[in-house]
Amino acid sequence: MSMKLYASLTFVVWLFMATSSLAQYVLDTNRERVDSDDEYYIRPAITDNGGRFTLINRNRSCPLYVGLENTDTPLGYPVKFTPFSRNNNDDDDDDIRVNRDLRVAFDEVSTTCVQSTEWRVGENDTRSGRRLIITGRDETTGSYGNYFRIVETENVGIYNIQWCPTEVCPTCRFICGTGGILRENGRILFALDGTPLPVMFQKKDD
Ligand SMILES: *[C@@H]1O[C@H](CO)[C@@H](O)[C@H](O)[C@H]1NC(C)=O
Ligand SMILES: *[C@@H]1O[C@H](CO)[C@@H](O)[C@H](O)[C@H]1NC(C)=O
Repeated sequence: MSMKLYASLTFVVWLFMATSSLAQYVLDTNRERVDSDDEYYIRPAITDNGGRFTLINRNRSCPLYVGLENTDTPLGYPVKFTPFSRNNNDDDDDDIRVNRDLRVAFDEVSTTCVQSTEWRVGENDTRSGRRLIITGRDETTGSYGNYFRIVETENVGIYNIQWCPTEVCPTCRFICGTGGILRENGRILFALDGTPLPVMFQKKDD
């Protein structure tokens, strides 16, 4: 094998490894790595799907639901991501990666509800047959209802949000679902089991 061919093969292998390791990080709207120490607004990547993610008072009662602002205004609440880790020592960095279980919580929000502002898979809505995303802590073993994941789409910087906590419980058989919007009485709720909503992460104070 000629030196030149060897060199270009090495380059191709390096390029492949470099891009595949790059690809495992979640990127924000500035193409920078999403960090567990920072706050991010989540918003649709395509227009006419609503504005930033926010808390929705669906029925004048608690808990509050995860949903989207009706228009693309500077409203809504930022979230923080907390990666799942089996033990507290294997936290090598603060970067958020794709296809990994993590908790999502609206940050610096005070509500009149006792529930936390952490995202949680809620009930299967009888009318739509879709599982709504609510807020609160899943107190059951494993807290599976609180673990979401960010998955890649075909476009760099654009993602889907899934519920499929197989990192938290590799032996469990979940009915996994991907988040999309659900319109109800002029409000936009975030729910699994429909058309997936492509989203972007916009760092707060940008
Ligand atoms: C809202 O609450 C009322 C009374 O608790 C109930 O009858 C109604 O079905 C609820 N609506 C929704 C959308 O959950
Ligand atoms: C939710 O309910 C609908 C019917 O009401 C059903 O088709 C669907 O499978 C249910 N989803 C889950 C995850 O159980």
